[in-house]
Amino acid sequence: MALPDSFLDELVARSDIVEIVRRYVPLKKQGSNYFGLCPFHNEKSPSFSVSPDKQIFHCFGCGEGGGVIQFVMKIENLPFIEAVRLLADAAGMQMPSEREQSDEQRRLRERLLAVNRDAARWFHSLLNQPQGQAAQQYFSGRGLSRKTVTAFGLGYSEDSWDGLLRHLTGLGYRPDEIEKAGLAVRGAKGGLYDRFRGRVMFPIIDVRGDVVGFGGRVLDDSKPKYLNSPDTPVFHKNRNLFALNMAKKSKLGKLILAEGYMDVIALHQAGFDCAVASLGTALTEEQAKLMTRYTSEVVICYDSDGAGQKAAQRAIDILNRAGLSVRVMRVPGAKDPDEYIRENGSEAFALLLKKPQTDGEYRIAQLAARHDLQRDDERAAFLKETVKLLAGMPNRIDREIYARSAARQAGISENAVLAEVERAIASGYRRRKKDEEKKALQPLRNAQPKDRELRYSNPRSALCEEKLLALVLQDQEFLDKARQKLKPEAFSSDFLAKIYQKAVERREQGLELSAAACMAGLPENEVRHLSGVLAETVRSREPEKEMDDYIKTILLEAQKRNAQSDEELLRCAAEAARK
Ligand code: UTP
Ligand code: MN
Repeated sequence: MALPDSFLDELVARSDIVEIVRRYVPLKKQGSNYFGLCPFHNEKSPSFSVSPDKQIFHCFGCGEGGGVIQFVMKIENLPFIEAVRLLADAAGMQMPSEREQSDEQRRLRERLLAVNRDAARWFHSLLNQPQGQAAQQYFSGRGLSRKTVTAFGLGYSEDSWDGLLRHLTGLGYRPDEIEKAGLAVRGAKGGLYDRFRGRVMFPIIDVRGDVVGFGGRVLDDSKPKYLNSPDTPVFHKNRNLFALNMAKKSKLGKLILAEGYMDVIALHQAGFDCAVASLGTALTEEQAKLMTRYTSEVVICYDSDGAGQKAAQRAIDILNRAGLSVRVMRVPGAKDPDEYIRENGSEAFALLLKKPQTDGEYRIAQLAARHDLQRDDERAAFLKETVKLLAGMPNRIDREIYARSAARQAGISENAVLAEVERAIASGYRRRKKDEEKKALQPLRNAQPKDRELRYSNPRSALCEEKLLALVLQDQEFLDKARQKLKPEAFSSDFLAKIYQKAVERREQGLELSAAACMAGLPENEVRHLSGVLAETVRSREPEKEMDDYIKTILLEAQKRNAQSDEELLRCAAEAARK
C-alpha cells in the first residue's frame, strides 16, 4: 500500500514518539533519552530506550526497535496501514482517501476477492450436481453433517481442465484475474487450465470474512493429497489461519491449534468452535501474532506421529515468544484429533481438553518417552537432558515443580536433580560472562547484524557506514557534506547503501530527514537493526573529523574491492586469451 511520502512525513512529525510510548510504558528521563521496561519482552531492569531527538525507540535487551509507526504496529499488533490510521486519528490528520492511495491495487484486490468468492460458490454448488456426488459421499463418509459442509462452505472441483475457467469467464472475469487469484495455472504452451481438478474443496476465509484461497484434497490416496492456493495479492499463507474467521467468535476463551483442515472441521462439528490450523506450513510468527489479537491461551493439538510432535515443540516456542500461554494436549491411541473424536466422541475430547499439559510437563514427558527409564545409562541421559531443560526455565518455582516430576520418573531424589540444575545454571552464567568478555574484544564481529540476511561482507567498512548514517540522519549539514564525497555505490552493505540513498533522495526532494521517516517503509529485520545502530551512537566532540574518517575508510575499502574485481577480470581475460 503506497501512502504518499509527504503524508507519512507529516504524520511522523506530528506524532511525538515519547508521548505515544508513554501511553503504554512509564518512562524516566536519563540524559537526553528516556528509559523504561520493555513492553516486548520480560525484564526487570529497564533497557528500553526512546530518543526524542532521533524519534526512535530501541530495546537493548531484545533488539526491538523503530520509529513511532513501528512502535504502534508492535504494541497494538496492527498492520502498517492500520497503525498509520491510528496515529493519524490521534494527530487529527485525515488519511488520504483509499482511492488516491492506489486505485489500481484496490481494484485488483476487489476483483480477486470477488473471483474467489464466486469460485467458492461454484465449488459448493457442484455438490448438488451429478458430478459432485462422489464428493458429497466423501464428506459424509468422513462423518461431516450437511450442516457442517454448509457452514464451512465446502465444495468440489470437477475433474476437467477448464470447468471453473469457463464458469468464471462466463461471469465476466478476465483470464488474467483468474490466474492472479491462483485458481488457474498457465501451462508451458501458454494456455490456462484449472488448478483444482477432481478435489474436495476447503475455502480459506480471512478474519474479515473474505474468501482468500483454497485447499483441495484428493478423494483417494493419490498425491499430492492436498493442493493449496499459492500466495496472491489477497492471500498470504504465513499470515492466515484456517477457520480463524469462525474461531474468533468462540466463547471458549482459547484457541485450539491443529494441523489439518479435517481436524479443524471435525473439532468445530464436535462443538470445539475455537479450532484453527496453520495452512500446511509450519506455524509462523505472524500467525502467532494474529492469534494474540483474539486470545491469550493456545492449546496445541497436533498429530501424534513424530513429525507432529516435533512441529509441536517448535510451535510452543513461537507461541511463547508471541506472549501466549501454551498448553499441549495429546490424543492417545489416535493419529490426529479428527480420528480421536470419531472413535471416542466429543465428551472424551472435552475431558482431554480440560487437563492439557503445560509446556514444561509436555517437554519432560517427551524426553521420558525417548528413553527407556528402566536402564541406568538411559536414565542418566534422560536426566542430563532434563537438567538442561530445567536450567533454561526462568522461574524457580517452575524448576522445582518439574524437577519433582522428572525425579519421580527417573527414580532418583528431587534434591539431586535440583542440585544439578543449579550447577548448570551457574556454569551457564559463567559461560555467558566469558562470551560477553570475548565479544567486547571483537568489535568487528560484534557489529554483525543479528539477522543473517543482513550479514556484512565487509564489517570494517560496514561499521563506518553505520556510524556515518547515524551522523547524516541526525543533521542535514552532515548529509550535504557527505553526499559531495560519497556515493551510495561505495557502500559495502546493500542494505545500508539503500538507506543512504533514500536519505540523499529525500534531501534532494526537500523531504523531512528524520531517521523515523527513512525507516517508514522498511522490512522488520532492517528496522530492528537500524534502530539499534542509531540508538547506540552518541554525538562526538568532533563529528566532522569523525565523518571524514568514516568516509575515508569506506572509500578505501571500496577501492580494495574494485581492485580485487579488476584483478579477477584481468585474470579471466588473460585466461580467455590463452584458450
Ligand atoms: P494431514 O495429512 O495431517 O491432514 O496434513 P489431514 O487434514 O489430517 O488429512 P486427512 O484428510 O485427514 O487425510 C495436515 C495439513 O497439512 C497440509 C494440509 O493443510 C493438511 O490439512 N498438507 C498436507 C498440504 O498442504 N499438502 C499435503 O500434500 C498434505
Ligand atoms: Mn487426518
